[in-house]
Amino acid sequence: MIEVIVARLEREAEGVMGVELVRADGSALPPFEAGAHVDLHLGNGLSRQYSLCNDPAESHRYCLGVGLAADSRGGSRFVHECLRQGDRLAVSSPRSLFSLAHEAKAHRFIAGGIGITPILSMIHACERAGLRWSLDYAVRSRGRAAWIGLLSAFGPRVRFHVDDESGRTEAAALLHEIDTDEHIYCCGPTAMMDAVALAAEASGITPERAHFERFAPSDAKAASEAVPASFAVVLAHSGKRCIVEAGESILECLERHGVTLPHSCREGLCGSCGVPLISGEAEHLDYVLDDTERAANRRLMICVSRSRSPELVLGV
Ligand code: FES
Repeated sequence: MIEVIVARLEREAEGVMGVELVRADGSALPPFEAGAHVDLHLGNGLSRQYSLCNDPAESHRYCLGVGLAADSRGGSRFVHECLRQGDRLAVSSPRSLFSLAHEAKAHRFIAGGIGITPILSMIHACERAGLRWSLDYAVRSRGRAAWIGLLSAFGPRVRFHVDDESGRTEAAALLHEIDTDEHIYCCGPTAMMDAVALAAEASGITPERAHFERFAPSDAKAASEAVPASFAVVLAHSGKRCIVEAGESILECLERHGVTLPHSCREGLCGSCGVPLISGEAEHLDYVLDDTERAANRRLMICVSRSRSPELVLGV
């Protein structure tokens, strides 16, 4: 865990608070890749994942954009209402689950609302490396468009889609005139991401060219009916064997047996609970692994994923 100080707080748009963090001892922060996120441990005992939105070339600060969630359980509301400049917090080292594809000849960014945050760091990285990019940025109103001044300066490469000016933009329209060597990167509300994923599939964009960063799980993901409700997990290092009951996750089952493993979101989004899978067939229900990694069946997110076989052996 890294101890940091809130160096600056600035309202970037209606409902979006920009937070700049510097290391408490003044030294450099661990490097991060464009699109990475950190766990922010708030002073009120909560921890939340936030994407880094500054230029990855910077090592003196981490910048976040925190959207005020209407149904906030204390995370974003705390940042908006209680956090003050000078406060001390802790952050995890950055994790990368949403990265620029090096093989892409061009990058098409699609952001909805606060989903602009990881994409902003990708834009900084593209600019620094001279890569071809464009952005479609959908917001409910112009006042809710964070970093509008910075983004407007990029001219026609940034297309704003403002619901209360021109109505909601169809997902297919966000994929207009896409080149075959262009990759798409989408981050925003779940419904928008699901719609873009469907439109991308319908347009023939292969999964390798479509990258998604989710802040919340999609309702669409559920275990198939063929999956056993209850199954065994064996911890290879200790030989401990536990039965995962219907309705509990592997992570919860292990906690019930006194085994605590690293985790953060508990929703299959952040990747922090990933463990090696030694044997058994997993039912992957996370948003972290790609199709190739799922097919390889070598790694498992234990906060949400389940088993298709009677037993899974985990490399912990
Ligand atoms: S705890 Fe975040 S993916 Fe499992």
